[in-house]
Amino acid sequence: MGYRIVLLPGDGIGPEVTEATLNVLHATGIEFEWIRHADVGARAMEKTGTPLPASVLDSIRETKVALKAPITTPVGKGFRSVNVQLRQKLDLFANVRPCKSLPGLDTPFKEVDLVIFRENTEGLYSGMETYDEKNDIADSIARVSRVGSKRIVEYAFEYARRHDRRHVTVVHKANILKLTSGMFLEVAQDLARSYPDIEFDDRIIDNMCMQLVMRPQDYCNIVTTNLFGDILSDLCAGLVGGLGVVAGANIGEKYAVFEAVHGSAPDIAGMNIANPTALIRSAEMMLRYLGETEAADSVNNALTDIYSEGTHLTADLGGTVGTNEFGEHVAERVSALVT
Ligand code: NAI
Ligand code: MG
Repeated sequence: MGYRIVLLPGDGIGPEVTEATLNVLHATGIEFEWIRHADVGARAMEKTGTPLPASVLDSIRETKVALKAPITTPVGKGFRSVNVQLRQKLDLFANVRPCKSLPGLDTPFKEVDLVIFRENTEGLYSGMETYDEKNDIADSIARVSRVGSKRIVEYAFEYARRHDRRHVTVVHKANILKLTSGMFLEVAQDLARSYPDIEFDDRIIDNMCMQLVMRPQDYCNIVTTNLFGDILSDLCAGLVGGLGVVAGANIGEKYAVFEAVHGSAPDIAGMNIANPTALIRSAEMMLRYLGETEAADSVNNALTDIYSEGTHLTADLGGTVGTNEFGEHVAERVSALVT
């Protein structure tokens, strides 16, 4: 039987990076039973009138774990992001995104090792937007709750302790957003007192952006609200080789959905050139979550070896290897490591 896991192959490059990732997961020798839901987002909208059918949520509530590829969201109009809805409806409050330098890549910094903890259910992504037609004014509500702030900050501190990464930085804009960002900062300052073994500081978001592109090695764990976390994730991806290599996990009390930081990349979809490393690494995070540490280590070791050698890279990193071929290559290494 193995693990029953929901699989959302997504849009754009989603199906391509999903197939490459499945190849790698199957090479671990662990058995999976995939509950595949291809119809989410625009396709589901056409067929069922909703971009996130209840059957998808029901499946994840049953299996408790999902592996998800990116899903396209229409810009400036149309349905609300399926990604944001999934996080809110399943209460996946912690978005955990490790950004670590890979060996062999020609990036401006060599020793970046950051984990971003993005609050995943509130802030400017609360979905409360109104338009006043008469005055032609639009409002978006950035809701921040004390409970919501506390659980993500606590998650970051606990993670820091568990992984012996003893420095947490809270990122905010409490000088301007005194009530919302102010509350988030205050909660973090209060909680920091319960973690005397962990160094704690805070940075205002704009300064943080500059610090990260000049001295990323000075930071370790970053905890922040939804929008800042979204932006910093892509910025930090840029420090370690780009969106093709950065993984993520959406974690809640009951459920977890593993997905790359990147989107559906319509500019390169269907060309077999996307880098599947980000989703493979998300699958590695899923293996760790399931307690399959040995398998996760073998995926990590295979990727580390491939990047150190630098002979089998995808186009985003200057190579010529296709998405599929990259997946097969990682899978071969993984099978050699697990047998
Ligand atoms: P994007 O992340 O899809 O692409 C940004 C740039 O990075 C593009 O040039 C793309 O080609 C490149 N890129 C992304 N992933 C790559 C990979 N694995 N290998 C090589 N290159 C890669 O962001 P964009 O263009 O802003 O958004 C496209 C769509 O994705 C939008 O509809 C957006 O809403 C959606 N999106 C979905 C997410 C999710 O499902 N969690 C997250 C972010 C965006
Ligand atoms: Mg994003």
